[in-house]
Amino acid sequence: MTTNRTFTMIKPDAVAAGHTGAILKMIEEAGFRIVAMKKTLLTPERAGQFYAVHAERPFYKDLCAYMSSGAIIAAILEKDNAVADFRKLIGATDPAKAEEGTIRKLYAKSIEANAVHGSDSDENAAIEGSFYFSHTEQF
Ligand code: CMP
Repeated sequence: MTTNRTFTMIKPDAVAAGHTGAILKMIEEAGFRIVAMKKTLLTPERAGQFYAVHAERPFYKDLCAYMSSGAIIAAILEKDNAVADFRKLIGATDPAKAEEGTIRKLYAKSIEANAVHGSDSDENAAIEGSFYFSHTEQF
């Protein structure tokens, strides 16, 4: 089943570099509606919980440190075919492999500091959205 929602974070490197507005503009111009959004700081423990699926990966510890190094923007987005369309908009995980015009090609610094997160499935979009937002915070 495909749902019409996905979840994103604008990551610490992109927030610190002042790219929040430009990235949100690209997201809205691509037809996504912002259902919920907040600027917040992850502790290393919370970052670890969010990325628990990667706990066995060699980059996990660095990823948790990086994701808690500065403010992030968390948001739930709505659009038909949201998960797949958003992954197309952000481009490949490694910005060196991302297509021209994608958010990561434009704003990511490295495979780790890759500017944005996008859910990889409808199931994870729902889990990740509820990690940050209660039902009454989603409009
Ligand atoms: P994201 O799409 O948020 O999902 C997992 C994150 O781990 C990914 O973006 C990157 O920030 C990071 N990541 C994935 N692969 C690597 C890697 N090979 N080296 C370092 N960080 C990585």
